[in-house]
Amino acid sequence: MKKLWSGRFKEKTSKIVEYFTGSISFDHRLWKYDIKGSIAHAKMLGKQGIITLEESKKIIKGLEEITNEIETGRFVFREELEDIHMNIESALIKKIGDTGGKLHTARSRNDQIALDLRLFIRTEIKGIIVLVKKFQKTLLNISIKHLDTLMPGYTHLQRAQPVLLSHHILAYVEMLQRDVERLKDALKRVNLLPLGSCAVAGTSLPVDRAYVAKLLEFDGVSQNSIDAVSDRDFVIEFLSNAAIIIMHLSRLAEELVLWSTEEFKFMELPDAFATGSSIMPQKKNPDVAELVRGKTGRVYGSLLSLLTIMKGLPLSYNRDMQEDKIPLFDTVDTIKACLTVMNEMFPGIKFNTKRMHETADEAYSTATDVAEYLVKKGLSFRKAHEITGKIVLYCVEGKKKLGDLTLKELHNFSGLFSNDIYSCLKAEESVKSRRSPGGTSLKEVTKQIIRLRKIVGGR
Ligand code: ARG
Repeated sequence: MKKLWSGRFKEKTSKIVEYFTGSISFDHRLWKYDIKGSIAHAKMLGKQGIITLEESKKIIKGLEEITNEIETGRFVFREELEDIHMNIESALIKKIGDTGGKLHTARSRNDQIALDLRLFIRTEIKGIIVLVKKFQKTLLNISIKHLDTLMPGYTHLQRAQPVLLSHHILAYVEMLQRDVERLKDALKRVNLLPLGSCAVAGTSLPVDRAYVAKLLEFDGVSQNSIDAVSDRDFVIEFLSNAAIIIMHLSRLAEELVLWSTEEFKFMELPDAFATGSSIMPQKKNPDVAELVRGKTGRVYGSLLSLLTIMKGLPLSYNRDMQEDKIPLFDTVDTIKACLTVMNEMFPGIKFNTKRMHETADEAYSTATDVAEYLVKKGLSFRKAHEITGKIVLYCVEGKKKLGDLTLKELHNFSGLFSNDIYSCLKAEESVKSRRSPGGTSLKEVTKQIIRLRKIVGGR
């Protein structure tokens, strides 16, 4: 098939070059956006009298027929036509003749691809927000079920202080909420029309960019034609947001891996979301969680790939930028798959609440409560910390629990102890007492649930 830019050339393009420079094998994915943009552009050209209204209608009808052919699998994408833009335009010209050649008036592939990408990312961001919210709801429902489940809160992966399982899960709902907010914010910068910037300098033809923006539901038009065709910061911003989302999912996935070990035994994965070993019959492996953790590497790689592609490019458009698509598409697919699988897996997780509670009671996890007890009796925190540290050491050496100590033994460390210390040593009491805003007491955690439910929406 004849190339749309063949006029300037005497020789045919080498097959190797066609293969090397072509993007149709992956950018065919943008066809819907490409046609949507072309229809809006054709409408504007007709309205402005740049082409006649009949020509505009003819072009739109042709594009609608192409839509139908693609949807029904009858359209043949051709490698020698390079990319999605030229595949569709060539098909249009073949279909309606020279009128089809008028579609590319006051337009370049440079602003066209920027438009397609913006339309694609806009749609995908909205879809990803829906998936994040779904997962937030699932986590919220689980946290409501576990308002009375105690577990150790960790720092340095060492048992630190008892917390509610509900509180721990809600931490992820908070993270995901910031992810949603970041995506919404990015949407503001994505949702601007680049079309009309043409190759780099704009056009001498009387286009109406605001009209096209309105047709395509953009919030406005880009303000600098050079910037509009040359930057991909909106792709990079999306990839950064995606990297943060998957980093959050990866941490959660890591906890699932850890918690389902024999050593932790905090939970069991649903059979449907675990896999077996080909050699060891006893194994039940957390492969889904591991893959969510592993796929994080791909998303980070995509972000780094785009940052690197862009860093040395002189203004404005450079063909290097075609390399943005595979990392972008892969990231969209990866994020959506990870959110979907995590959301499906979570309701089937069985938490071993007894084991969690027992673990929360062990390992001197209420030592901070002892120090705070002494503070309430008038000691400085540093002094209280030191005394409590000595008590813990005494227990470690004598293989005792804090609760085993008699009042007499405690008096060897401080005369401020009386009988009321014993209630402080229980994990339940410790949790109950953490009433500072955002703390782990039932009251505070319930407040968090109510707030998040309003944001995320009910069941
Ligand atoms: N396939 C190209 C890309 O993805 C479209 C723009 C091509 N523009 C050009 N002047 N060669 O970036």
